[in-house]
This record gives sequence, structure tokens and C-alpha cells, in this order.
Amino acid sequence: MLDDTLRTPDAVRDAQRWTAHNYHPLPVMISEAEGAWLTDVDGRRYLDFLAGYSALNFGHRHPRLIAAAHAQLDRLTLTSRAFVHDQFADFCRELADLCGKDLVLPMNTGAEAVETAVKVARKWGYRVKGVPAGQAEIVVAAGNFHGRTTTIVSFSTDSDARDDFGPYTPGFTVVPYGDLDALTAAVNENTVAVLIEPIQGEQGVVVPPAGYLPGVRQVCTERDVLLLADEIQSGLGRTGETFACDHEGVVPDMYLLGKALGGGIVPVSAVVADTDVLGVLQPGQHGSTFGGNPLACAVATEVVRLLTTGEFQRRSAELGARLHAGLDELVGRGLVAVRGRGLWAGLDLEPGLMTGRQACERLAERGVLAKDTHGATIRLAPPLVVTEAEIDHAVAQLAAVLSAA
Ligand SMILES: Cc1ncc(COP(=O)(O)O)c(C=O)c1O
Repeated sequence: MLDDTLRTPDAVRDAQRWTAHNYHPLPVMISEAEGAWLTDVDGRRYLDFLAGYSALNFGHRHPRLIAAAHAQLDRLTLTSRAFVHDQFADFCRELADLCGKDLVLPMNTGAEAVETAVKVARKWGYRVKGVPAGQAEIVVAAGNFHGRTTTIVSFSTDSDARDDFGPYTPGFTVVPYGDLDALTAAVNENTVAVLIEPIQGEQGVVVPPAGYLPGVRQVCTERDVLLLADEIQSGLGRTGETFACDHEGVVPDMYLLGKALGGGIVPVSAVVADTDVLGVLQPGQHGSTFGGNPLACAVATEVVRLLTTGEFQRRSAELGARLHAGLDELVGRGLVAVRGRGLWAGLDLEPGLMTGRQACERLAERGVLAKDTHGATIRLAPPLVVTEAEIDHAVAQLAAVLSAA
């Protein structure tokens, strides 16, 4: 029965009334959060098993990140890159160290990091590799998700993301994900880069076959092609290592980072690479008013420091094993497949049982928030501060949703 004392229904309706319908949110109205927990306007609590698509790896309002933000808010928030500010060098040096690279180029959103990587790779291709002007090609994978700009959707294979947004940017070749032969065949003398997610998050947490990423690395090295790893969702502890590439000992030429780099407080993204790559940019050739601003740098430096102890990576690996063990038990009991690494999972529902959306709505009624993708898949990505008991609770709620169907 509908409880007409609740504020949620009207609040959700109002939120929909005044916005373009480019999202289909679950009908919950969140007003507060801490750690792995969200509270709605009616005082109901939910376990956050999406973590802002991994932007909240350290949980909501991590005390060290909030303290860094507060301290910076009281001093200096924005200068633009026209002047140098005192938070910039530490951020760039510490992030470069974390990545084992020379240089950092900070931006804001993930899509901007991808755009930056595309521009840098093309310029590197013309100036360093010697590709004829205007001929640079970048190889990407089917099922990719790299953001929403017109260039990025040009090489999307998702019709919702791409259709009706042409004319499209040329210069991209799409090959099946996980197929090394197809990728190798797509590389030619004008190829400047392979742009790849080491795990495809939006596609449903798709992990490529073992050996694929090292194979891609080898092809790139042999053919003088840059390997651009989009670790915007997979990086910074999510999979149980600092980067998803680490699981296979792969070092890309460029790390593309975002989401968790901003600590769930401010949008911060970055491209991280060595001088022979990022050094191709000269003043005036790329930039962003807000990229690398003092507030962003202060928060993101603290994010990097949280990652240097390895504690969050360890938590993700250990608790991820528990999450996956629990989810594996549900295969044959409402699920047909579970994929993922660390505290990151993609679950395929049994065909005909219910849609991913319905499963997420029923989970929300049971106090667990997650997100569906591509019809019958659910993604789980709790903050890395989640506890064993919270994982067990979420898995139990999922089991209850599946068994009630
Ligand atoms: C792998 C990957 N790359 C890029 C992006 C785009 O990031 P943003 O939404 O911050 O532009 C996303 C967002 O989900 C992503 O998952």
C-alpha cells in the first residue's frame, strides 16, 4: 500500500519534471550518506552497491578527503592554469609516482581524459611516429564505453549512445573485445593507438580472456602504437590492484583516470604518461579552465595518498573474493553468469526471470542500491570501505529477490 506520508514520490516526480530525461534513475531520493550507506528523504537507509559508478571507491565523505576539501575551501579554490597554484606540483608528482610515469595532464570528467588521450595520441602519431597528416587511426573495442562526447560516441557500438548524434568523427576502427587476432589485423602503418578498457564496466563488467592484455601490449610495442588504458572505472583500487592492467603485469603507455580520483567530491580526471608521449603538447594546444584546480588537486592528492598504502587494493581483493563466492552460489538460482574482479561484479539474470531494472527496483525495496545495464545484467560496485557483514547482507537480499521471482 502506498504510504502518503512519504516525501519520496513527490520529490522523485519533481526531479523528473525539471530535467531532460537522459537518465532513468531508481525512484529513491537520497539526502545524506556516510561510508557505504545512503539515507533518503524519508529516513530509509540503503547500502550503496554502485558507488557512483566507482567514483566513490573510498565511500561517501571519507574523513581524510572531506578534511582535505574543507581545508582547501578555506584557502583557495580556483586560479585557472593561467597562474600556478601551490597544490598543483604535489598532485602531479604523487599521481605520476603512483602510475610509474613522468607526467600528468589533469582534466575534469572521464570523457575529457579520453578526448585528451585521443588528441595526444594523434599528435604523437604525426610528430613522433611520422603518420601522414590527417591519416591517424585508433583501434577500439566493440562494447566500449569511454564517455559521451561526439567524438567518443562516434566509435561506440551501443545504438542508444550513438544513433542520431552524427556526423561522426572518423579515424577509429572497431574490433571485437578480447580477440587478439582481430586487433592485430586492424593495426596498420597509420595506427597511432589502441584505446581499451582493461575490463569493460558499462558492458557488464566483462573481463577479457587471460593473455589478451599482454598480447595487446606486445602488438603495440612491436608496431610502434601507443596503448591507452581507460582505467577511469577499473582503476584506483576497484579490482583489487591499483590498476586492472596490473593483474596481467601490463603497463600501458597512457593511463586514463577519472571517477575515484575526485574522491566522490569533485570531478577530477587525468592522463598520465611519459615525457616522450605527453611532451608533444605545447602551450595553447590543449587545456581546461577547471582542470587541475586547487580544490581538485587537494582532494585528488589525498586520494593518491590513500592508495599508496595498498590498504584499499587489499580490501578490494579480499572482500571481492567474498562477494564473488557469495554471488557464485546464486548461479543456477536466478543467475546464469557472474563476472568481475575485486569488488566489482556483473551478473546476468536468467532469461525471462525479470529485467535488470526490475531486479534493481526490488533490491532497492530491500535496502540495496545497484544498477542494471543492457537489459538483464546488474552491476555491483560497492565502496571499498564496505564490510564483510554488509557484503553478506547485500548478497542475501539479492538471493531473496531472485528466489521470490
Ligand atoms: C571506462 C570509462 N571511461 C570513461 C567514462 C566517462 O566518464 P565521465 O562520465 O566522467 O565523462 C566512463 C564513465 O562511466 C567509463 O566507465
